[in-house]
Amino acid sequence: MPSLIYDQDPKNPNGRALLSPPTFPPTLSQAVEYTKMNRQQFDQTDSPHQLYSSFPGTEPIPLPPRFSNLKRELVAGYESEVTASWHRLLDELRAEIASIAESSQHIIPTIDFSEIDSTPKVSEFAADVRTRGVAIIRNVVPQSKANQWNRETCEYLRINPQTKGFPARNPQLFELYWSPAQVKARADPRVLRAQRFAMSVWHNGRNPNQAMVDPSRPVAYADRLRMRVPGDTSLYLRSHMDNGSIERWERDGYGRSGTYTKIWEGKLHEYDPWDASTRLGVSSDLYNGAGSCSVFRMFQGTLALSHTSPGEGTLLACPMLRLSTAYVLLRPLFAPVDHFIAGNMEDFLDKRNWTLAPQRDTVIHGALPGYTQEISAVLHPHLRLNESMVSIPTTKPGDYIIWHPDVVHAVDPVHSGKLDSSVLYVPCCPLTPTNALFLARQRKAFLLGQPAPDFEGGRGERDHVDRPGVQDVSDTGGEDGLRALGLMPFEGEGDLMRLCNAILFPGQFDMI
Ligand SMILES: [Fe+2]
Repeated sequence: MPSLIYDQDPKNPNGRALLSPPTFPPTLSQAVEYTKMNRQQFDQTDSPHQLYSSFPGTEPIPLPPRFSNLKRELVAGYESEVTASWHRLLDELRAEIASIAESSQHIIPTIDFSEIDSTPKVSEFAADVRTRGVAIIRNVVPQSKANQWNRETCEYLRINPQTKGFPARNPQLFELYWSPAQVKARADPRVLRAQRFAMSVWHNGRNPNQAMVDPSRPVAYADRLRMRVPGDTSLYLRSHMDNGSIERWERDGYGRSGTYTKIWEGKLHEYDPWDASTRLGVSSDLYNGAGSCSVFRMFQGTLALSHTSPGEGTLLACPMLRLSTAYVLLRPLFAPVDHFIAGNMEDFLDKRNWTLAPQRDTVIHGALPGYTQEISAVLHPHLRLNESMVSIPTTKPGDYIIWHPDVVHAVDPVHSGKLDSSVLYVPCCPLTPTNALFLARQRKAFLLGQPAPDFEGGRGERDHVDRPGVQDVSDTGGEDGLRALGLMPFEGEGDLMRLCNAILFPGQFDMI
């Protein structure tokens, strides 16, 4: 019988063993309960997976019987199309991964902030971003200002020694949401300009005037900051996808908006990862997952505060967005005829060895309710992660790394550099009614110095010295900065604007 492998840390500083895993196979309720209870224990330890818990392992974990039916229903009536699509996908993956391995980090699209109004440069960059899903916008913040923000962050930590973070004994991922640098970054005119530019890669579907989303109006999402020290291993993150796991297959999850319908129909080349209209009604967190994000982020992003080269505690990404997404989604529907034991890997991976078998089991590879979507060499062998995961090129203070919500990514196991690897987490979020609802909650947290809404718990920064306020936002970003933080109504006409203003300022605007 297969065995489960869990995040058991033999160096658990408190000497606490994690809860015993549920019997194999776990029921859905067992898995969810295990998730919640272990999270309570993680909350009291300095486990690096407190925020991004996942189920690493070499054995797929079966789910309840309904998932077998779900797998069958997802492709019902499209079996031959999906099979043909899968076989084409395996061919495309082989060629694409060879190209990535050859180009390595040079395949990551890069543009300088000074070029984002240059039409030829922008056209090429946008096309590359749509293929890769990950990119760098350089010099978004002038280096001198980014260095100043780094110094201000160090000072904020020095004068507020009560600040908590992970790992507990040597914090590097800080529970800070309202430090001077973070607040300034969210309101900074150049950061907001870069976000508008990045989000212009998306579109609003077939009926752009009806889509309740506006990428030209970025709104802030308060996340934390990282100052990873040389030699650190605790902030290692295995390859994963953000924004839910099992929800990508569930009808009540991404199925609500038909995000991946074209993939289930075997029409991979019609699948558009950049259609915002297929993301608005999504439920990406059906099981109270750790590290879940309540808003629609068009890009996750980090703003560099230090010089960081590959291997120095930073990001790796799989730069083939559409192909990796399709593979992860279709993988549970296919099974090898001959299993790999110690034979020829190429024979095992050959497309003729893989057949459609949606009802063979209830496994959704790497997905478990409440856990981050794990991507591994064993569960997803055709991704050839050792070749397709590439390090982000060297970044300087002020460079902005962005990646699509479905991009497979990881963080270096070890920080092998000599200086701190420091970033602010600054995602790109468009104005939507859901994001406006979140912004109203987040605004309250900002004004009171509470933890950001997705990171509730603890005292936050209400007693922190030199915590910025509304005036600092205004001084940094003027009216646009105030709007990004929900402190001033948005200008413009239309249902979206009226609804969002009514959500944020119910005393001034009527609901539609
Ligand atoms: Fe992530």
